[in-house]
Amino acid sequence: MSEMIFEQNPELRVLSEKLLQARIRGELLLQSGDVGWASAPSNIALLKYWGKKSGLKQIPVNSSLSLTLGAFRAFTQISVVGRFFPLNEGRVNVLLERPHFSLELNQNAAPMPAKMEIFLKSILHGFADDIALRVESVNNFPTACGVASSAAGYAAIVGAIADLLNLQRFFNACEMQTWLCEWSRLGSGSATRSAISQSDSKGSQFVAWELLDNGVSSSTQELPVHNNLSQLCHCVLVLDAGEKSVGSSEGHTLAQTSLFQELRLAQYPARFLRTREALLKGDFQSLQELTEIDAFEMHAVMATGSCPLNYMNRDTASAISKFVEIRNKVSAKMLWTLDAGANPHFVFMPEASVAMSQFFQLLNSDSRFSGAKVLSGETSSKGLHLGEKSGAKSVVASSKLPDVLKEMSLLQAAQFFLKGSKE
Ligand code: DP6
Repeated sequence: MSEMIFEQNPELRVLSEKLLQARIRGELLLQSGDVGWASAPSNIALLKYWGKKSGLKQIPVNSSLSLTLGAFRAFTQISVVGRFFPLNEGRVNVLLERPHFSLELNQNAAPMPAKMEIFLKSILHGFADDIALRVESVNNFPTACGVASSAAGYAAIVGAIADLLNLQRFFNACEMQTWLCEWSRLGSGSATRSAISQSDSKGSQFVAWELLDNGVSSSTQELPVHNNLSQLCHCVLVLDAGEKSVGSSEGHTLAQTSLFQELRLAQYPARFLRTREALLKGDFQSLQELTEIDAFEMHAVMATGSCPLNYMNRDTASAISKFVEIRNKVSAKMLWTLDAGANPHFVFMPEASVAMSQFFQLLNSDSRFSGAKVLSGETSSKGLHLGEKSGAKSVVASSKLPDVLKEMSLLQAAQFFLKGSKE
């Protein structure tokens, strides 16, 4: 597996080789008790990644583009289990009795998924095959609320390993970003859009994961955005807090079985370019149209594959249609989108807060939505943060979550957004 990854991603082989050389020089030394931390945001795709290139590891069939959800975060601590053994002619001895990898999620011991163990072993391959890692991770948002935990989770794991290895000593800024984005992508495709490091708050909220012209590789970068769109707000409507029956990874393999997938892909890369242009011009109207048509098309593909996936259920469709009704009545700048789940996301300009409040009032008057919740986060904390200052050290130790996320009933949400509009 690791060899296949290095064959398809030669830049990762070069970086791994650098780490082996550092170990040979005695500059990289790991042993039990060494720890690294990171926190990473989730993201919501406005142009969706749906389908992977066959025969290639985690290369999407189309470019995607997302809004970083800075307040929805995973906080992760990685610690070393075992120690480095003497090298054999400049190579790491692969031990018969390698220590065990282990996982703790939201303060509960959890079996480490085989996919995650293979992933961690691949990252260590070549320079640290003799140690294992312990992963402790806490999310500040509920599982199955419609916010991708794998995006935040894998980006935070990769970030915490970068901190553990103190990679800044060996890589320049560009190599560092490549290492973070590429390994995150290999963990979970959408995680690459959560792996952009931001040292200050000036960075853009938008990230693109682009399929390159050669069709066999991709790149991730922060996108420039017009000032008009630099302060977008976001919330998610939790209609169904149950685990979804078919996850994204399985869903990607079904995409090609829908006749609509080819039609959908024919819209790219023009749609991708138009969306980038809308961001540059600060054109919310186009961003809204492009986002919503993209979500509709992805769900059409999902619903028409050999095993139909109907994530958009009746309540989701009804909530979206009420949202569109209010939006059209007051011409507010707000848009909806939906990932592989039943819980719609809403993105809006700050001045659309009153319309959002009206929307939640309308939902609140319909008994069908009585159990619904709204999650809304501060937009201040954004990208991937490494090290103690990421907050992960204290969160993992005490499980005390930072107060950046609000969970509200519909009525509370209606009041919250009305109040926000007056501030
Ligand atoms: C619908 O990134 O979760 O959210 O690469 O198999 O881990 P894997 O899939 P994942 O797929 C995300 C699908 C999506 C759209 C998107 O986020 O672009």
